[in-house]
Amino acid sequence: MNTDKKNIAVLVSGGGTNLQALIDAEKSGIIKSGKIKLVISNKDGAFALERAKKAEIDTYTVLKKNFSSHAEFESEIIRILDENEIDLIVLAGFMSILSENFTTHYKNKILNVHPSLIPSFCGEGFYGLHVHEAALKKGVKVTGATVHIVNEIPDGGPIVMQRAVYIEENDTPEVLQKRVMEQAEWKILPESVELMCSGKIKIENGRTYRNE
Ligand code: GAR
Repeated sequence: MNTDKKNIAVLVSGGGTNLQALIDAEKSGIIKSGKIKLVISNKDGAFALERAKKAEIDTYTVLKKNFSSHAEFESEIIRILDENEIDLIVLAGFMSILSENFTTHYKNKILNVHPSLIPSFCGEGFYGLHVHEAALKKGVKVTGATVHIVNEIPDGGPIVMQRAVYIEENDTPEVLQKRVMEQAEWKILPESVELMCSGKIKIENGRTYRNE
């Protein structure tokens, strides 16, 4: 029954391939306990917004430059989320660090996908291609992606799912980024969203447990 489904909001800044994976997962039934109700972008003209419109999902653009402070920018996002009775917020390539005020307001209700195996290559400054550049520079042989709950520490919240991806000898950051998306992000993000919406994740002592 539709009425039992959790309301999901997806926050984006860029191309939105992870948003697309969520839209496709809802269509195919991988996500069955939640419904993507709206998409918020903090970048004008982000291609993710086109993907949302094509799927007939409501979109909002909230630009930091239109507010006098970061707090006011976040208040506008909070207003939209609360007005739409959002149960789960998914950061899918959302390139703005959320304040403690925001993460506390939605304690254990925000998921983020990060393109490395946390705690490697994460925290402030590690986003998008920079993460893969750092992994290649270090010469690690295995990387991957992580979906975690968002708290006040950037990329520091409880881990929901991770998937490993092998690095190949001649990888460039772009090639590696694509492999990590295809083999890890686009799979574990929808699966984690379903786990959260169906109440199968318990959070205790700073980590998650499966609640089957
Ligand atoms: C993804 O690789 C995501 O993991 C990363 O940005 C990309 C967004 O791509 N996020 C971060 O680095 C957050 N720290 P998309 O817009 O195509 O989903």
